[in-house]
Amino acid sequence: MIGKITGTGSCVPERIVENQEIAKWVETSDAWIRERTGVLRRHIADGETTVSMAAIAAKRALNNAGVDAKEIDLLIVATLSSNIIVPSTACEVQKEIHAERAVCFDLNAACTGFLFAYNTVQAYISAGMCEKALVIGAETLSDMTDWTDRSTCILFGDGAGAVVVEAGEGDFYPMIMHSNGKKGHALFCRSSLGKQREYIQMDGQEVFKFAVRKVPEVISEVLRSAQLTVNDIDFFVLHQANQRIVQAVAKRLKTEISRIPMNLMEYGNTSSASIPLLLDELHRGGRLKRGQIIVLAGFGGGLSWGASVLKW
Ligand code: COA
Repeated sequence: MIGKITGTGSCVPERIVENQEIAKWVETSDAWIRERTGVLRRHIADGETTVSMAAIAAKRALNNAGVDAKEIDLLIVATLSSNIIVPSTACEVQKEIHAERAVCFDLNAACTGFLFAYNTVQAYISAGMCEKALVIGAETLSDMTDWTDRSTCILFGDGAGAVVVEAGEGDFYPMIMHSNGKKGHALFCRSSLGKQREYIQMDGQEVFKFAVRKVPEVISEVLRSAQLTVNDIDFFVLHQANQRIVQAVAKRLKTEISRIPMNLMEYGNTSSASIPLLLDELHRGGRLKRGQIIVLAGFGGGLSWGASVLKW
């Protein structure tokens, strides 16, 4: 058995923060942010929480798949920025959507979280341990952002995306995951459980170099393993961190940029929410067609990175 994505959903906060607004808070400009990152605006929570956005995205994905919440037997939320630690965000979502049969837990692999959670669901399905799952990526990074630090506050946004994965017959495609804790210092945030408020800290250039080297490498690795070539792939759905990273990946893979869709201009980097947000946009916009071969690729803090091939 393999897992097939049968529905997608997403939810972003109502409040939109344009680059020009950030330029009033820190010494930066719309032009600098556009040129270095591609980001034009982002959605920032103003009342919404990681749990509330995750639950709405989940309901929309279930509705899109035509699956009742009570049929879900596994629910994983990938997050690093929840408003609640215990119970897990996944258990809170279960309560909200009445997915009473589901086993629920959270997974933190930073910006690679959705990919790792999706791969975990595939492993459960192939082991016969689940039939219908919800995989959600949800973040409120604005709570962990130092809004006086221009090197990070321009990058991030809030939101949630969800997919329903159902077991069925089909070709098995490979999934590859990597972690390197020795490089954790490149992108980190200590827990705010102590007295001091903690914020995301990053060595932007180190993360940039890591992404442009490792993402094409892991995509090539997963394609080799699937006995496919770059030209067999309809879309490469990458974690949405930075337009220049996407352009560099396209160049290294020698593929047209049109096969690496982007929506980071509108949302910024939403960490584990970015891949399911983009999948939902592509699916609802009619760009994904059944039978297309897609590569998902994630990368981020840990450091962690990975890629999966799937047939839509
Ligand atoms: N506005 C204006 N100037 C800024 C700025 C901002 N928001 N942020 C930094 N600068 C300045 C720096 O202070 C530096 O000035 P200096 O030359 O006088 O010292 C200059 O711009 C260049 O800084 P640098 O850090 O070298 O810029 P960069 O080209 O590497 O771009 C990032 C910075 C963060 C956009 C880029 O490194 C990046 O995107 N990295 C990857 C980050 C990422 O994707 N993280 C998440 C991965 S999941």
